[in-house]
Amino acid sequence: MPRVFRPVDITQEEKEIRKDYFDRHTPRILCPESVRRGEVFRVQVQVGEHYTHPGETDHYIGLVQLWNRETLLAETRYSPQALAGKPGNIQVDWYITAPEVSMNLTAMSYCTQHGLWTSEPRAVKVV
Ligand SMILES: [Fe+2]
Repeated sequence: MPRVFRPVDITQEEKEIRKDYFDRHTPRILCPESVRRGEVFRVQVQVGEHYTHPGETDHYIGLVQLWNRETLLAETRYSPQALAGKPGNIQVDWYITAPEVSMNLTAMSYCTQHGLWTSEPRAVKVV
């Protein structure tokens, strides 16, 4: 089982000192707070908010996943050329059909040098 990095696991002091490192690897979920049952809605995941991640041959974001609790909903793989070999922020949109019950979404990102990272969970109410 790989170690999964999450910014909540560190002290506030360390978080401030290494905020660029944490920011550039941590995925964020952008989606509605509430959707209707059966509605198709967009879930966007961005990796990094204030800092870019390298897009080098041996160091890049190679995978982004979207989970609803323990169920994998979507996965997108990247090569370093997705950022044209330059620093940048991976961003992906998925279109998901709302299930019968409310969701608890989590995004994962994988850096080829710095491992697996998780987002903050994002609750989506289904009405
Ligand atoms: Fe990295």
